[in-house]
Amino acid sequence: MERKELIEKFIKFFEKKNHKKVPNASLIPENDPTVLFTTAGMHPLVPYLLGQSHPQGKRLVGIQRCVRTGDIDSVGDNVHHTFFEMLGNWSLGDYFKEDSIRWSFEFLTEVLGLDKNKLAVSVFSGNKDAPRDNESAKIWKSIGFSDDKIVFLEDNWWGPAGQTGPCGPDTEIFYWTGEEIPEKFDPSDKRWVEIWNNVFMEYVKRKDGSLELSPQKNVDTGMGLERTLAVMKGTYDNYKTDSWEKIIREIERISGKEYEGHEKSMRIIADHIKAAVFMINDGVFPGKSEREYVLRRLIRRAVRFGRKIGIKNFTQAVAVPVFEIYDDYRFDREKIMHELKKEESLFLERIEKGMRVFEKFADSEKIDGKTAFLLYQSYGFPIELTLEVAKERGLEVDREGFLEEQKKHQEISRTATAGKFKSGLADESEATTRLHTATHLLLAALNRVLEKPPGLKEIEQRGSNITAERARFDFTFDRKLTDKEIQKIEEMVNGWIREGSDVERKEMTLEEARKFGASGIFEEKYKQIGKISVYVIGDGKISKEICSGPHVKSLKELQGYRFKIAKQKSVGAGVRRVKVVLEKLA
Ligand code: ALA
Repeated sequence: MERKELIEKFIKFFEKKNHKKVPNASLIPENDPTVLFTTAGMHPLVPYLLGQSHPQGKRLVGIQRCVRTGDIDSVGDNVHHTFFEMLGNWSLGDYFKEDSIRWSFEFLTEVLGLDKNKLAVSVFSGNKDAPRDNESAKIWKSIGFSDDKIVFLEDNWWGPAGQTGPCGPDTEIFYWTGEEIPEKFDPSDKRWVEIWNNVFMEYVKRKDGSLELSPQKNVDTGMGLERTLAVMKGTYDNYKTDSWEKIIREIERISGKEYEGHEKSMRIIADHIKAAVFMINDGVFPGKSEREYVLRRLIRRAVRFGRKIGIKNFTQAVAVPVFEIYDDYRFDREKIMHELKKEESLFLERIEKGMRVFEKFADSEKIDGKTAFLLYQSYGFPIELTLEVAKERGLEVDREGFLEEQKKHQEISRTATAGKFKSGLADESEATTRLHTATHLLLAALNRVLEKPPGLKEIEQRGSNITAERARFDFTFDRKLTDKEIQKIEEMVNGWIREGSDVERKEMTLEEARKFGASGIFEEKYKQIGKISVYVIGDGKISKEICSGPHVKSLKELQGYRFKIAKQKSVGAGVRRVKVVLEKLA
């Protein structure tokens, strides 16, 4: 069966049972600020699952594009994808377990003609928060499932999709893809493939983590389109279904290599470029924060694996079969092509630069840990890339040393990476906080690098404006900064960041601050406040500045970013403005 036929059959089946088809929503969730991407069909329905009445009624059906980046590193095997489509039917306070389970069974066996002997299910075993779901098990039994094909698991719980919201016990349906059908269902045997999940959303998770009963009992189901196509086709490899085949053929054509033997690289390229096409189409651009960074990481990982099979400048070509397979979507091809090309070129350029670091080691036998870390931190070389290039050149890499360096910088991964690849909370404020501290470093560096204009003892701040993306900073100076000066300032700030000193907040009166030698705007308003805050970086050796914050606690939190002066201009006599960014290192 082909993709479009499965979609049509699913929608028709539920339409006959009085469901109305809902639109396929954007990958950028509208109704849930706590997640980065739409990860399930229920996502756009959150308000309705919580009791708001839906204009199309209480029974809904649809197909939803989804992105899950939680296990991005598992992509490359036969079943994981970052982009996939989910078929689903929903009851908003209407039917519940009985109809939901029976209809799933009817669709699978009667419409798709799957062998009922190859089906097995798991049911919620209960835990301290919610009881065992005996009701679902009873329904499965009444349909003809033996005890051997029903397993109770604590894991059978789904949601909420974000941090809070509707959730509940679920029952998952598996299909046997091996040879001889086993007597007993063993969910840890990978040959049992989960194809459909029925969630009974009886609960709502609150902010404090506790559960309350939902105002209405809902059903939320999700069938994995790619997986179902694969099991129906009798292939163990999702990438051999029509959602993928054309893309794989194109990669084979460009590389002149066969899929067999290069599965991992080709799957990663196919998956990541497909996901990138859909993300860009829904308005995400490669960049440094949150969603943008996920997209950047996907494109760069595809480029890196392209390198492994000897291709570059290929992302646009790989996008073409994506447009063809999904011709039921509308794509802004020009925008997509432009962004892919831009990001790929940017990354290739970085690789070129990093290669020059390798040249320096042409006569050695080993890349030490510090250099591997430098490549990682300053040139955006993931360690895998360093290992690859080193291997090509017959060099060894001190992996242990690299790991040690990385460990020293562990806070980076915690603050910068954590949560970004889970569908975690998008925390803009962390980015803003980092930039606040960066402007203190900037002012300190300006004072050390630039020669003060005549009559000025200090270069002073005149104003600033900080968002999660960038900081704009005005200061007293009467001419354009030269490239050399900019480079020196950047190097100084990045050097401080590498050292990772503490940032302390001290409270004092304005007078005390003056004596302490703090810089900053000694505004009248501070006089009225009484005590003010002075942020002290590196025991005062780097900077002492009056400010109300917010600031990071240690410059270690800026590690993983490169400080950069992106722009400068004059904003009136004797005042210059620079735009600075903290560029996330890939
Ligand atoms: N929302 C459920 C899932 O994603 C159906 O598995």
